[in-house]
Amino acid sequence: MAPAVHPPSSPALPSDSDERYANVKWEELGFALTPTDYMYVAKCQKGESFSEGKIVPYGNIDISPCSAILNYGQGLFEGLKAYRTEDGRCRLFRPDQNALRMKMGAERLCMAYPSLEQFISAVKQTALANKRWVPPPGKGTLYLRPLLIGSGPALGIGPAPEFTLCVYASPVGSYHKGTSGLNLKVDHKNHRAHSGGTGGVKSCTNYSPIVKPLLEAKSSGFSDVLFLDAATGRNIEEVSACNIFVVKGNAVSTPATSGTILPGITRKSIIDLARDIGFRAEERVVPVEELLDADEVFCTGTAVVVRAVETITFMDKKIEYKTGSEALSTKLYEMLTGIQTGRLEDTRGWMVEIDGCNG
Ligand code: COI
Repeated sequence: MAPAVHPPSSPALPSDSDERYANVKWEELGFALTPTDYMYVAKCQKGESFSEGKIVPYGNIDISPCSAILNYGQGLFEGLKAYRTEDGRCRLFRPDQNALRMKMGAERLCMAYPSLEQFISAVKQTALANKRWVPPPGKGTLYLRPLLIGSGPALGIGPAPEFTLCVYASPVGSYHKGTSGLNLKVDHKNHRAHSGGTGGVKSCTNYSPIVKPLLEAKSSGFSDVLFLDAATGRNIEEVSACNIFVVKGNAVSTPATSGTILPGITRKSIIDLARDIGFRAEERVVPVEELLDADEVFCTGTAVVVRAVETITFMDKKIEYKTGSEALSTKLYEMLTGIQTGRLEDTRGWMVEIDGCNG
């Protein structure tokens, strides 16, 4: 398993240093924290709106032991990346979608939230302050993690009296480093989301409960877990950190976002790209039996990008799928990363420039 934290390769330097790139062994990056120089912090008191925050040195944050996030898990996170283009610029992929998803989650968890403009500005400021950590083209990306937490004390159950927005960054490589295709195990016992719960928003509390089944699957040689719906146990839902697609003939299907599925931004973009090249992309209930005769299965997510599934083990059956250069997942990966890194034209205006990054 990848280390949780990469050792810092050099002490933090101010980003106005003329050093263009941080001293990182880019080829060795997986999906683990490499601490960077700066982070963004803004606070919002009860009854107020978020005002402009500031960039501060990356480090621990002070928090009440009685905070709503520590006691009751009142918190959301987002994930997005800064991409380096061949000519040295840095760009974000659809940050407005992360802002909207954070707003939706904040409404579900009774939290104050930043405006769309504040969110995008916070993310841009964090990326710019850490520009030397945005990997060279083709060597990874700078993962940006906006966190919205109930930081004020809440002894009884209720919204926190203070909320904090913090954005930190880490250069990352592949999420499932060292594996070519994924080998998933269908989990018949544990569920990641329930109807009426928080599966459809990016609540911090969605993730710890799936660590146990994930570790169990990994210890049996699987790369990840595919969860089924809690209501019937008959339909596929999500993999631990990503959405899932099933390909059969000309149809590409993914579970509909009806409350228990995370509305992934990569998911949404892949639906558009699949339609662009003539596939019928469907958001619907996907019965687990469809895995038995699918041509291809692949996963999507900000961290995961687009990743082919090599095998799925369902009950006692191990099903194999098409992967490699002829697979649709490879085509969609090339299309998506082509747009993100500037190799392909961004006809939909998905990319957002971070001014000042290549100076
Ligand atoms: C992301 O893809 O950005 C995620 O949030 C996945 C995370 C759980 C690692």
